[in-house]
Amino acid sequence: MKLTAGLLSLGCLIALSAPASAQIKNSTHDFSTKTWNFRAEICRVCHVPHDHDYTTKRGLVSGLLWNHALSSATYTMYTSPSLDGAIDSAPTGTSKLCLGCHDGTVALDAFDKNPDNWVGSYLGGSARVPGSNYWSGSTGDLRATHPISIVYDETKDKGLAPKTTTFGGSGTIADVLEGGTKVQCSTCHDVHNEAGEAVPGTHLLRIAQTTAQGGTASGLCLTCHVK
Ligand code: HEC
Ligand code: HEC
Ligand code: HEC
Ligand code: HEC
Repeated sequence: MKLTAGLLSLGCLIALSAPASAQIKNSTHDFSTKTWNFRAEICRVCHVPHDHDYTTKRGLVSGLLWNHALSSATYTMYTSPSLDGAIDSAPTGTSKLCLGCHDGTVALDAFDKNPDNWVGSYLGGSARVPGSNYWSGSTGDLRATHPISIVYDETKDKGLAPKTTTFGGSGTIADVLEGGTKVQCSTCHDVHNEAGEAVPGTHLLRIAQTTAQGGTASGLCLTCHVK
């Protein structure tokens, strides 16, 4: 991350009011204090070291020792006459993992339920992500959100910066593309709110969008789109 004077002073202000150093603990993705999270673990809602949910085998299906239910919704993908890169016909890769909570069709507490490991029963489907449709018009419709599962093809779209361009504190553009090629949700967001990657005071963004966030106007967009 490029630490500007503005960001440093913002960091000091935050430090005075609350311990806000970026980390997953106490972030929006720390569900360890929820009543349904009987073991009060952070990672377990999304990852598990050994998959006990034999019938589902989520980790085998999606990698990353994934432990949360996936959505079975069908989606309308982003489309536009000026789109150049190849876009998948449905969300792929790690975006599917995000949508397992963020499309609002899957309960937040839908993860491994092995009674040997969990003290007590689950609250079932009651813990849904609140307001989970805010980023798109309706569940399953991705036309109102930035294209995902799309190849970053700077040879076809001449308005895209080279993949070697620095991308905040996360390395280069290539480093935030899944497999070095595709834009996914995690391209712009750091789900773990890691220090040096997610910009504090933003929606887990890897690059600030405003001067108030310690960046430049539309700094995230302008890193990829040379406009
Ligand atoms: C809210 C869900 C969620 C929680 C909670 C979570 N992760 Fe992740 N994790 C993801 C997703 C989604 C990915 C894939 C996207 C990415 O890498 O950004 C991932 C990727 C990873 C990876 C591989 C890529 C990398 O960043 O190194 C590791 C390792 C990892 N997580 C470890 C952890 C650990 C350890 C914890 C607990 C401290 C944790 N995660 C908590 C969702 C989560
Ligand atoms: C286990 C469920 C779960 C998974 C998996 C998950 N999220 Fe979330 N996420 C949530 C919940 C719940 C919230 C809080 C929603 C609210 O308060 O309205 C949230 C909040 C967020 C926010 C807003 C953060 C803020 O501080 O304003 C972003 C951005 C976000 N998630 C991105 C992602 C991305 C990107 C992925 C995948 C890489 C992902 N999430 C995976 C459950 C999840
Ligand atoms: C091209 C970058 C980009 C991609 C890709 C992207 N987002 Fe975002 N997202 C943003 C930006 C920028 C904001 C902040 C918008 C604002 O503050 O008005 C945001 C905001 C959010 C929020 C918080 C919204 C709120 O108002 O509380 C969530 C949740 C979220 N994104 C989830 C996702 C998920 C899930 C995906 C994949 C399906 C995704 N994002 C893909 C850039 C992106
Ligand atoms: C990681 C790089 C990256 C970031 C960051 C990013 N974009 Fe994109 N964006 C892309 C790629 C790749 C495409 C697909 C371009 C193509 O193939 O035509 C795209 C497509 C778009 C499109 C659709 C273009 C069309 O022809 O339909 C718009 C509009 C757009 N981005 C706006 C934004 C805005 C606004 C932001 C900041 C919130 C942003 N982008 C951030 C990489 C990025």
